[in-house]
Amino acid sequence: MQFFTSRSALSNTATDCLIIGVFEGKKLSPVLNELDKASQGQIGRSLKGGDFTGASGETQLLSAPTGLPCARLLLVGCGKKKEWDVPTFGKVAKATAKALLATRAENALCDLLSQPLKSRDPQWMARQLIEALGHARYRFNQLKSQNKDDKAPALKSFGFHLGEDVDIEQALVQASAINAGIQLCKDLSNLPGNICTPSYLADQAVALGKQFKTIKTSILDEKEMEKLGMGALLSVSRGSRQPARLIVMEYRGPGSQKDKPVVLVGKGLTFDAGGISIKPAAGMDEMKYDMCGSASVFGTLRAIAEMKLPIHVVGVVPSSENLPDGDANKPGDIVTSMSGQTIEILNTDAEGRLLLCDALTYVKRFDPAEVIDIATLTGACIIALGNHAAGLLGNDEALCQSLIAAGQQSGDRVWQLPLWPEYDEQLKSNFADMANVGGREAGTVTAACFLARYTKEYRWAHLDIAGTAWKSGADKGATGRPVPLLTQYLIQRAGQ
Ligand code: BES
Ligand code: MN
Ligand code: ZN
Repeated sequence: MQFFTSRSALSNTATDCLIIGVFEGKKLSPVLNELDKASQGQIGRSLKGGDFTGASGETQLLSAPTGLPCARLLLVGCGKKKEWDVPTFGKVAKATAKALLATRAENALCDLLSQPLKSRDPQWMARQLIEALGHARYRFNQLKSQNKDDKAPALKSFGFHLGEDVDIEQALVQASAINAGIQLCKDLSNLPGNICTPSYLADQAVALGKQFKTIKTSILDEKEMEKLGMGALLSVSRGSRQPARLIVMEYRGPGSQKDKPVVLVGKGLTFDAGGISIKPAAGMDEMKYDMCGSASVFGTLRAIAEMKLPIHVVGVVPSSENLPDGDANKPGDIVTSMSGQTIEILNTDAEGRLLLCDALTYVKRFDPAEVIDIATLTGACIIALGNHAAGLLGNDEALCQSLIAAGQQSGDRVWQLPLWPEYDEQLKSNFADMANVGGREAGTVTAACFLARYTKEYRWAHLDIAGTAWKSGADKGATGRPVPLLTQYLIQRAGQ
């Protein structure tokens, strides 16, 4: 989709759909007044007599308004003027995207940026709208044999009407790139486990390296991982017929040759049945989403490569399945991780940390500026934070604060949990250096405590995205989170 800007008068700009924000109350804004005059009072009459109140998120579509060169006029309720804030704008952006894509309009022109927010700039507003359009446009129909495209939205270009002194060009570039990243993240996440295997993910990484000259991909197979001593990762993969992969994607943006990399490590369990500690049947299909962390690494790399961000980033994805099998991990098994530390596997369903700990040891070779891992790691995180915030834990407060700030800015929010030594004691094993589970209490924290034992030599943060990476129920599907958060973090870090 194309985005453009326009500064000409709204009452004589031709478009398939003109989008105007309307606050609650009967008074017409200056913009609406101008349009109302051109339409010989039609807009005013329709607002007075109709059901539209201007409540936030409400929409009304007027077809072929009199005297105006637009084929449609979409009025979007913005709520009470004094409550015009960030959450309201999010709601308005969503409603706008939904109502617009329900029409056959191929292009649109939007005036919503003319009402500034107190705490955000027009660039931010444009990015929110573009992201909302991306979500509303998204379809995953590639595996349906029929009617693949029957509901494909018609919209091809979307314009922002701007005041004289407003420039949003960089925001348009960034938002389009983030949308491309979100889309890749969703597509990989939504694919079923029988298609999206560790080798499939590896192929996608190679494809990303072909698509962008700035990304170099390398893949490690099980033999190479064996040589590195990745006994924890390989123990999970032993229960599966699909061979494990360790995927490395290195992005070097302009001028970043001398920079230490930000390393992103994404959990890539292409299906998690739990292994011998098998999961209950209900909802188990959703464990195809246990690779959403890795999908967000793919998506983030695509986004920063498209926007040519001047930064050095390495994406690392340890990928495997977790299945029950005669050769699978058994409760009580003890394995040796690449770090040399031994692990008693008391629950084979706590497999994510077994993959991550070896990947986190592996990434030391990149001499990272910092490491962020992203994982659908614990059901406990859903109990703690629900679907609204990802869990954040880490060994470096400045890094955590930067991620919190990036979450606030992008709307893809995180909430910090404590990584205190008291919790670490729950990992005590009578037979190995540590157990892979710490009991029922504070499951998200003890999982992070486990990872913390492998990340002592660098600045590190962990994102538990179990509650935010996908939606269940009628709207089942990947959300693309935390691509907006990670990309925003990297944009900030690159100083843009
Ligand atoms: N992938 C799951 C975590 C998960 C469960 C994410 C449900 C999203 C929804 C992870 O591998 C797992 O099974 N974790 C266990 C850990 C436990 C055995 C300590 C869990 O959360 O139950
Ligand atoms: Mn599991
Ligand atoms: Zn898992």
